[in-house]
Amino acid sequence: MKTAITEMFGIQHPIIQGGMHYVGFAEMAAAVSNAGGLGTITGLTQKTPIDLANEIARCRDMTDKPFAVNVTFLPTVNAPDYPAIIKVIIDGGVKAVETAGNNPAAVLPYLKDAGIKVIHKCTSVRHALKAQDIGCDAVSVDGFECGGHPGEDDVPNFILLPRAADELEIPFVSSGGMADGRSLVASLAMGASGMNMGTRFIATEEAPVHENVKQAIVAASELDTRLVMRSLKNTERVMNNAAVERLLKKEQTLGADLKFEDIIDEVAGVYPSIMMEGEMNKGAWSCGMVAGLINDIPTCQRLIEGIMADAEAILARINTMQAS
Ligand SMILES: Cc1cc2nc3c(=O)[nH]c(=O)nc-3n(C[C@H](O)[C@H](O)[C@H](O)COP(=O)(O)O)c2cc1C
Repeated sequence: MKTAITEMFGIQHPIIQGGMHYVGFAEMAAAVSNAGGLGTITGLTQKTPIDLANEIARCRDMTDKPFAVNVTFLPTVNAPDYPAIIKVIIDGGVKAVETAGNNPAAVLPYLKDAGIKVIHKCTSVRHALKAQDIGCDAVSVDGFECGGHPGEDDVPNFILLPRAADELEIPFVSSGGMADGRSLVASLAMGASGMNMGTRFIATEEAPVHENVKQAIVAASELDTRLVMRSLKNTERVMNNAAVERLLKKEQTLGADLKFEDIIDEVAGVYPSIMMEGEMNKGAWSCGMVAGLINDIPTCQRLIEGIMADAEAILARINTMQAS
């Protein structure tokens, strides 16, 4: 299937793996890219820019296909060394960058000069338009369903995607709640040129995370995620667990007085124990409502091939319905 997104990124299928903290290692990105999608290394999971340079080199050893690096701009006082991160991405010959979080305007000229295609992930039409205005090549439109940070507008993809299609001139992919061939056809119907998936790719054979994480996603229903940190205007959709219930209780008790320090045990630095050691109650970890649609742990190849085959079959069925 050829779309504006497959052409822009030089990939076979219009399917992107979004950057994911402590999941987006070289193994994950290479597996998705080798299966014909666009895999993504998560830049900030690497402790230093040198580590990121090594991760990019490792990924290149595992695939000769294009892959991306995610650069998340966090609202933090101790900002990572973004200029150095951008430099190793450029020097590493990476041809695609997924930006997320704050406005990427400051780094855009460097990426563009290096011929890198930039897809900015955003959760509202106004941010998507801003990304278009500053020169991003594409956007990833992340609905309320998504795992991770859905923003504060709470607009689900059945509204957000057509709204984006009505306003945007640059290509976009759907993101949040995407899992299968039905998701892809629906995304195309709503004007997207492909889809981005996070949670679905964690439950794959190659995802370099503890088996407990994959099993937790398979076991979860669409009712098992929670929104946390709303009062801090840093809303995150996470898998419910004992730590999240504790966190929610603190949010309820402290209300508007809640500070980040109050929930530091539940949210800060918990990813390595969860993703690597499989300590599932250690803290809050991002997970989408789409967990309710995930019942298996295929290889990335089988997942992507299945999505494409199902999408083609649905499109053919729709064509037949129209003809009869
Ligand atoms: C465990 C996990 C970690 C994530 N970490 C990041 C991140 O570091 N940066 C980022 O831009 N998005 C991150 N995301 C969001 C994903 O890239 C993607 O936008 C989201 O998962 C899409 O929703 P879905 O899970 O319903 O597919 C993360 C998502 C998950 C599930």
